Amino acid sequence: MKKKISVLLKDKIKSFSKTIKIPTDKSLSLRSIILASQCVGLSKIKGLLESEDVLNCINALKTLGVKIVKKNNIYYVYGNGLNSFKVKKKITKIFVGNSGTTARLLSGLLSTYPNKFYLYGDQSMNKRDMTRVIEPLEKIGCFFYPNKKTTLPLTLEGTSMPLAQHHIESKGSAQIKSLILLSALSTFGTTTVEEKKISRNHTELFLKKINSNIKIKKLKKGNLISLKGRKNLNSFNYTVSSDPSSLAFIAALTLLIPNSKLIIHNVLCNPTRIGFIKILKEKMNANIKIKNLKKVSGEKVGSIIVKSSSLKSFSCPKELVPSLIDELPILFVLAGLTNGISKFKSINEATKKESNRIKEMQKLLTQSGIFCKSTNDTMTIYGKKNLNFKKKYITVKTKGDHRICMSAVILALVTGIKIKINNFETVNTSFPNFISLIRNIGGKIEIKKN
Ligand code: S3P
Repeated sequence: MKKKISVLLKDKIKSFSKTIKIPTDKSLSLRSIILASQCVGLSKIKGLLESEDVLNCINALKTLGVKIVKKNNIYYVYGNGLNSFKVKKKITKIFVGNSGTTARLLSGLLSTYPNKFYLYGDQSMNKRDMTRVIEPLEKIGCFFYPNKKTTLPLTLEGTSMPLAQHHIESKGSAQIKSLILLSALSTFGTTTVEEKKISRNHTELFLKKINSNIKIKKLKKGNLISLKGRKNLNSFNYTVSSDPSSLAFIAALTLLIPNSKLIIHNVLCNPTRIGFIKILKEKMNANIKIKNLKKVSGEKVGSIIVKSSSLKSFSCPKELVPSLIDELPILFVLAGLTNGISKFKSINEATKKESNRIKEMQKLLTQSGIFCKSTNDTMTIYGKKNLNFKKKYITVKTKGDHRICMSAVILALVTGIKIKINNFETVNTSFPNFISLIRNIGGKIEIKKN
């Protein structure tokens, strides 16, 4: 059992001005080790995020017989080619912890491996939807037991004769798109994914880089991705850049605290990931800039300069939702602390994350005195910049959701509301040094061991 901790915040943070580092990107870290396991030869990964989600993924790959070694801060992954997992038991148990990306992407790879795998996660993960995995993988000939169960734990039985498929992806989910592409790697023929809503494209960029037979055609609405399977993948050297989703919390804090400024270098600026920055700049009047854009390991990377700003309320364009899906909780905080009405539509996917983020954030904002209205696909926030927040004392139960925890911290540091946040250990799944970073810029945060 993981040690449970709570944190307590009582004071507003004072102005700050610094250059800081943000942890590296979770999506890139997970893809780099998962894909390296399928390449021929040794891949070297620098800057891998050492968060619980990534460490659980490494352990899962090791259980599947992949050799992974860390030396001088570089991870070496010894790839043995497509479908090269080695398992001895009839049923191999695989723990994915809190990581939806690990559960779903690994399912894609396991679907073409003729063996049985028992996949299970932590309490929050075991509640998350797996229909999105089961349906497309059953189409290629893989089985899931027990029949009709739609959440982990599940037993997956892979097939040695996978069938190519055409899948229409209309949720805007990169995990669904990626798991199908991963199953296509060991499948004869051409698998196609028609993506109706464009989501993060790291898997596609990676697959191009390592010599897979992938093609992407722009459609009127979205993309048609085709992958011809059974082609050997080249091992690679990779550097992981900083996570724009982790940056979002610290950027929001800077915008809301007068006379403050932060500079953060080497942040992943892939256009499919920075809807948050786009909305800040284009709709909220925020002073946030991207400078020194360059390419690192095939991904756009830049420096972010963010300064305190006088923000405006906004309506979030629905096309931007997939590119800011993980930033919705902190965007709700920004909307709540900005005068005026802010509106969000087509955000149902936010209910499928580590918790139902529409519901949990509505609870947090309402407790703080900010009125919101929501459905399972929309949120309207009646923001107030200068509410008298001081007298409040609230407790946040975060249901194992790291992004709810961090959003609550930012809300407390800006408003001075006394907030106790339970299950804070879950922040280690994505942002291991979050508390020390907050302290480094002057925030007071007390840790209580439960
Ligand atoms: C991720 C995709 C997103 C995101 C998750 C990471 C990925 O999920 O919420 O944190 O690395 O592919 P969906 O693709 O299901 O929206």
